[in-house]
Amino acid sequence: MRITVVRGDITQQHVDAVVNAANSSLLGGGGVDGAIHRRGGPAILAECRELRSSRYPDGLPAGQAVATTAGSLPCRWVIHTVGPVHSRHEDRSALLASCHTESLRVAGELGAETVAFPAISTGVYRWPLSHAAQIATRAVKNAGSQVAEVRFVLFSEEALAAFRAALEAAG
Ligand code: APR
Repeated sequence: MRITVVRGDITQQHVDAVVNAANSSLLGGGGVDGAIHRRGGPAILAECRELRSSRYPDGLPAGQAVATTAGSLPCRWVIHTVGPVHSRHEDRSALLASCHTESLRVAGELGAETVAFPAISTGVYRWPLSHAAQIATRAVKNAGSQVAEVRFVLFSEEALAAFRAALEAAG
């Protein structure tokens, strides 16, 4: 598995699967979620609604992942995952790691060769970038996934630097 770190917009990545930093409702939001639905179009939301009325009547739990069409995004699938909200009182690292391992498991089931991740939970969900980057890069490295490339797509220089450093530290 090749792990790369780039600065950019995840909705413009030409990969097999793009991971969405969703919320449990699967019905859209801001940040990455808003950009993916805006640029991907209504087909994504239609499939999310279908998932809510069938497999996930109570919503997608944090740490889990599920795939839908990518609509008009330049990729084949969107893998929606729900990051944990950062807490100073409770260690939710395992949930954040699970977002990555579960997304890679789903990617493997789909036969996706290249997968783009945003910096999950580091926006609205307020995880400190450096800690989230450590968890994300370690989870991907240790996932044992057959995916050929994982690409972390960062929206800011700060996030890019955090993920570069975490990837180097992970060896
Ligand atoms: N491409 C890549 N990264 C992006 C993009 C984009 N187009 N837009 C935002 N980001 C970055 C943010 O700067 C942040 O570093 O993605 C990271 C994750 O931020 P959020 O999208 O806020 O995701 P998260 O912190 O996991 O919160 C999820 O926010 O948008 C709502 O519906 C979503 O309720 C859910 C919550």
